Amino acid sequence: MHCGTLVLFISLYLTLVGLCEPLDNGLARTPPMGWIAWERFKCTTDCKLYPDNCISERLFRAMADKLVEDGWKDLGYQYVNIDDCWSAMVRDINGKLQPDPDRFPSGIKGLAEYVHFKGLKLGIYGDLGHSTCGGYLGTLLETVDLDARTFAEWEVDMLKLDGCNSNSTERSIGYPKMSYALNATGRPIVYSCSWPAYEDGLLPKVNYTLVSQLCNLWRNYDDINDSWNKVIAIINWFGDHQEDLQPAAGPGRWNDPDMLMVGNFGLNQDQSKAQLAIWAILAAPFFMSNDLRTISDDAKALLQNKLLIYIDQDKLGQQGVRIKKDEDFQLWKRKLAHGQFALAYLNTAERGGAKSFSLSLPPLGIKDCAHGYNVYDVFDKKLVSFLNSNHTHSFRVNPRSVVLFFIRPVC
Ligand SMILES: *[C@@H]1O[C@H](CO)[C@@H](O)[C@H](O)[C@H]1NC(C)=O
Ligand SMILES: *[C@@H]1O[C@H](CO)[C@@H](O)[C@H](O)[C@H]1NC(C)=O
Ligand SMILES: *[C@@H]1O[C@H](CO)[C@@H](O)[C@H](O)[C@H]1NC(C)=O
Ligand SMILES: *[C@@H]1O[C@H](CO)[C@@H](O)[C@H](O)[C@H]1NC(C)=O
Repeated sequence: MHCGTLVLFISLYLTLVGLCEPLDNGLARTPPMGWIAWERFKCTTDCKLYPDNCISERLFRAMADKLVEDGWKDLGYQYVNIDDCWSAMVRDINGKLQPDPDRFPSGIKGLAEYVHFKGLKLGIYGDLGHSTCGGYLGTLLETVDLDARTFAEWEVDMLKLDGCNSNSTERSIGYPKMSYALNATGRPIVYSCSWPAYEDGLLPKVNYTLVSQLCNLWRNYDDINDSWNKVIAIINWFGDHQEDLQPAAGPGRWNDPDMLMVGNFGLNQDQSKAQLAIWAILAAPFFMSNDLRTISDDAKALLQNKLLIYIDQDKLGQQGVRIKKDEDFQLWKRKLAHGQFALAYLNTAERGGAKSFSLSLPPLGIKDCAHGYNVYDVFDKKLVSFLNSNHTHSFRVNPRSVVLFFIRPVC
């Protein structure tokens, strides 16, 4: 469909339903954090062969238990999110979605009760289209209202609405419709839209003003996978298109570069730091997709780094930007509340050893404050320098790694 027509259609739609304010459900004022099944557990449904790893209430209960026992919840990781492949293959006699009865014998409502009892929140997955990406029950335009009510009845706290098997016109109707339908249930439900990712993620095809009026977070780009190549491709794409993306983000509305791969098989410790640092600079949702039962201590320490989480969750909610890029190097900066900053020096070289850098504030547009700035190395967890406009701090960054600084004014 022609883009102008699409925009016209959407404005008409909005006028008809009489809603032109930003999405005002009071949720996700900082980027949501939690765990989601998809990348690690995919569409594993054979519970005989994989009793502990198949998409079943058992898996989500186990992750909920770990989120509480191992300190994740206290750090802010509060959502336990189901992804694709949870549903039965047919709707019930009333036309409602229903979970696979063998894998979810307590129903989604039973699982939600368990998760809530633990002080956590439950997320579910839907797909606007005749079926999900994995071939399970989709949400048609005619069932949007019913499905929203069903999720609310189940006491779900978040919905990720995917877009496989729909066309652009259907999405331009269905994503807004679900936003209003969720609101009409009266239950606060964080709404994650995959909509922009299905429209190439950029202006003018995507109207981010509109998207941020409808959704709390949204996927912009490709699915991540457990490889450095994909992580760096996502980082590059977000940097290359930051003029379109950066203004869209703010409290209650976030760009989503996709799940955290840390704790899986594809990223080493340096690469894991790089993913986390840039995601924090991007004010990205922190959804791990890993196995919390077997995660290494090293990966856990990275994901539980308090200063990293503090940066990601900064109250100003301003997405950071890439301020320098050459062949082997990128510098990312995020302005934080209270005159603080985060800076990520990303060495993208694929050969050679650690590279030397020096940090001084004036070229970064960080103006001198009367008593200077304390500089913390986030992953080394230490104060590394005190800077005013006369000082520099020298350090090295490994290839395919990052050094992330947190800069706090002393004045
Ligand atoms: C999109 O799908 C609808 C059916 O739901 C169909 O009527 C319409 O022609 C399709 N539009 C395009 C552009 O394919
Ligand atoms: C529904 O939208 C109204 C108006 O934006 C808002 O005040 C209210 O909190 C929303 N309710 C829910 C449950 O999202
Ligand atoms: C984008 O959406 C907003 C809000 O619905 C609307 O006011 C604006 O005109 C749209 N922008 C374009 C370029 O269509
Ligand atoms: C993962 O992403 C990389 C980089 O885009 C791609 O080359 C590779 O094929 C992907 N792997 C899978 C299994 O999709």
